[in-house]
Amino acid sequence: MKVVAFNGSARKDGNTAILIRRVLKTLEKEGIETELVQLAGKQIHGCNACRTCYETKNERCIIEDDEVNEYAQKMKAADGIILGSPTYFSMMTSEMKALIDRTGYVSRANNHMFKRKVGAAVVAVRRAGGMPTFDAINHFFLISQMIVPGSSYWNIGIGNKKGEVEKDEEGLKTMEILGKNMAWLIKKTKKKQRKKKAA
Ligand SMILES: Cc1cc2nc3c(=O)[nH]c(=O)nc-3n(C[C@H](O)[C@H](O)[C@H](O)COP(=O)(O)O)c2cc1C
Repeated sequence: MKVVAFNGSARKDGNTAILIRRVLKTLEKEGIETELVQLAGKQIHGCNACRTCYETKNERCIIEDDEVNEYAQKMKAADGIILGSPTYFSMMTSEMKALIDRTGYVSRANNHMFKRKVGAAVVAVRRAGGMPTFDAINHFFLISQMIVPGSSYWNIGIGNKKGEVEKDEEGLKTMEILGKNMAWLIKKTKKKQRKKKAA
């Protein structure tokens, strides 16, 4: 069992990374392998709407000079996907949006590659705009036929300067509970899939 997480922040190891790592730590305690990919400093192109992925149906985007095809395969191989982003002008970062647009289209062109995987959004915010960001990431999971677990609050942590989110006790607790619920759901769905295969 594996969960892959992407941090869409332009700032490596910032508040979003801290929140994501809380979820990952809980998942690891539950015996689930994890990997964190940070998009900071990476050039990620947006979708160019060529629809080549719908013609080739080879699980690849035609844009090959960045790492999105590798990320799409990491997502496909995982049982759970975490997409984390700070709030930039009341929305996710452009890096995260590019990742979603490209992998989302490739997935849809290939019989919904991410179908029934468990998905969770994680958001860092200074003050406002966290909810539209959280909602937009969840919209990606839901249109991808993925399953979204909840927590004791929406998965948002409050902080501005690097590391400030450590002071948001409720935000950190929300991430721990999210990790537990994600682990529970992955174990349940995996068990069902194993039973189906055996039958
Ligand atoms: C370009 C930019 C836009 C931002 N827009 C918002 C915003 O709309 N609302 C808000 O509360 N914080 C906003 N922030 C603050 C970040 O969301 C906040 O500092 C967050 O903790 C950064 O997370 P990180 O450390 O993972 O990058 C913005 C920051 C930047 C750089």
